[in-house]
Amino acid sequence: MLAVIGGSGLSRLDILQGIKSVSYQTPYAQAQVEILEGSVEGLPVAFLPRHGADHKIPPHRINYRANLWALKEHGVTGIIAVNAVGGIDPQMSPGKLAIPDQLIDYTSGRAHTFYEENLEEVVHVDFTHPYSKRLRQLLVIAVEEEQMEEDESEEEMPMTRGVYGCTQGPRLETAAEVARMRKDGCDMVGMTGMPEAALARELGLQYACLALSVNRAAGLEEGPITMDAINQTLATGMKEVKRVLQVFFRLYRERTVI
Ligand code: HPA
Repeated sequence: MLAVIGGSGLSRLDILQGIKSVSYQTPYAQAQVEILEGSVEGLPVAFLPRHGADHKIPPHRINYRANLWALKEHGVTGIIAVNAVGGIDPQMSPGKLAIPDQLIDYTSGRAHTFYEENLEEVVHVDFTHPYSKRLRQLLVIAVEEEQMEEDESEEEMPMTRGVYGCTQGPRLETAAEVARMRKDGCDMVGMTGMPEAALARELGLQYACLALSVNRAAGLEEGPITMDAINQTLATGMKEVKRVLQVFFRLYRERTVI
């Protein structure tokens, strides 16, 4: 089964039909994780809002291990992670969608691995390519198809690759931090892409990210970054994200022999 992990602006997935809720008691700080299950385009889909149903858990306090553990326990094998980001690459104007193919982790102090205690041996997972090729490819087709339907201009076309830089938050970056990230090769900056992607890899789950730019990253535009402007872009952008997900699940169903 596939799952969607919702980020800011996507605490509810209203394209999900026939929803039932399943709770898991996890071994990670005894956290209880609630997963919603339903169907999209006839395909069973699980949904987990990473900031909680009422969007109260900040990026650095999310229990990423509990979330991923519960999804695996639920029988999930692949994840589409939705993340709001700040745009660093000039193409990443607010409202732009991107499907990153690489990431750089700038977070610190987060519980970031399952391989920590009671090990029979030390484990190092390969993370050369952090995102699933297959899920990414299908997301790219879905985004392009959705934008074709919406008759978007060239400029609106999604970024079909890119480097996601993950910062610790919850504060936004300084202009110098963003300038450094740009030199490092980052095209976008968010706070929730890691350790989520790495934990998915440790559990053997396919994982891809659908990112929505909601602001230009710090220092790339005059004036401060305001939550008002971010929330406005989130509101329209997440509607598009849901349309893309709908196309994605239809394509996935058509191409998968169930
Ligand atoms: N920085 C980090 N995370 C973000 C941003 C940003 O500018 N916008 C949305 N998430």
